[in-house]
Amino acid sequence: KKINIKGKIILPGLIDAHVHFREPGYEYKEDFRTGSMAAAHGGFTTILDMPNTKPETNTAKEFKKKIKIASKKSIVDFGLHASINKIKEIEKIIPLKPASFKIFTEKIENHKISLIFQTLKGSKIPVTFHCEDPEIIEYYTSQLKDETRPEIYSLARPSIAEELAIAKAITFSHHYNHPTHICHVSSKKALKLIRSVRAPVTCEITPHHLLLRSKDLKKWGTITKTNPPLRPEKEAINFKDLKMIDIIATDHAPHTLQEKENNIWDAPPGIPNLEVTLKLLLTLTRKKRLKLARIQKMLSEKPASIFGLKNKGRIKIGMDADFVVIDPKKTGKIKTDEFYSKAHYTPFEGREYIGEPIMTILRGELIMEYGEISKNKGAHIKSKYTKE
Ligand code: DOR
Ligand code: ZN
Ligand code: ZN
Ligand code: ZN
Repeated sequence: KKINIKGKIILPGLIDAHVHFREPGYEYKEDFRTGSMAAAHGGFTTILDMPNTKPETNTAKEFKKKIKIASKKSIVDFGLHASINKIKEIEKIIPLKPASFKIFTEKIENHKISLIFQTLKGSKIPVTFHCEDPEIIEYYTSQLKDETRPEIYSLARPSIAEELAIAKAITFSHHYNHPTHICHVSSKKALKLIRSVRAPVTCEITPHHLLLRSKDLKKWGTITKTNPPLRPEKEAINFKDLKMIDIIATDHAPHTLQEKENNIWDAPPGIPNLEVTLKLLLTLTRKKRLKLARIQKMLSEKPASIFGLKNKGRIKIGMDADFVVIDPKKTGKIKTDEFYSKAHYTPFEGREYIGEPIMTILRGELIMEYGEISKNKGAHIKSKYTKE
């Protein structure tokens, strides 16, 4: 099929290094089919799925099970992050090529983290960190528990909690000289801390930490609840800081609207972003806040190199005629009724945008065209786990 792209822009297919597709265990929130359709809709041709499913993706058995599910249901290329169980399981997962081993600093003791780094020595598999110090959070949360205004959530998880945990993560990276990736950095001080160390550390920002502030919790309520939380303007990261950051990842974290409409303490954290991110970023390029080349770097080239997705790297995907075609002039307002994700809400609802992905091409075949997902799925799905 011939594709007319006169006046359009073509970029390499986007790679989202951080999504939660919730399968197995929470399919009512999202599954590999709906999540991957949302990815294709948003211009992404590869996603890396997080391991906090039920059960967790922390044994070789569960890892293989998830590969099977994703191979059957995903309409885009995929890789999987693994989480932590016994060291024996980590050793068994290594040859299965996880995108990374993910550590929630909230949950794992220091001695265990050091054992993990030792186990990964010699492999190129990065350790990814969700950084928030549990002790700080516990204290501030208990102080605020009688408050019900959503905006106090940012105070319950202050940025010092994030910075302490990051200090720890980069210390491990420095000591073991092992590739380490810090997820969703939310504060400028946290970012400066990361850039103060000479160690193989990379970091990521989400669209919400870049574009929203703690006052948006007041405006949008619990749908804006996320961990780490949104920050006040004086602490937050903005466009000028992007040069210190390696990648933009969506942290697409769908929950049901009913779950999100709970009170601020009981609502689950997370924002679904796959179908708004590129539109928001393209709009910033029109406003001269961002260059297209930076989008390409932060959502395709860099995630590919950090997580081993280059043709010559550990894994053979990501550079195989995967493209997104953009109409730079298309305008509209962000609307949730167009979402393929099961999560039909966004704190970006109603925002005007300029520029949107109009076609997603996976290994030379159209999988999304003007918002429609191709019925016959087009290309065969490749993953880090496909045998050549
Ligand atoms: O906001 C968040 N949502 N932060 C996390 O760390 C987990 C994620 C989720 O799984 O919903
Ligand atoms: Zn996280
Ligand atoms: Zn996440
Ligand atoms: Zn591909």
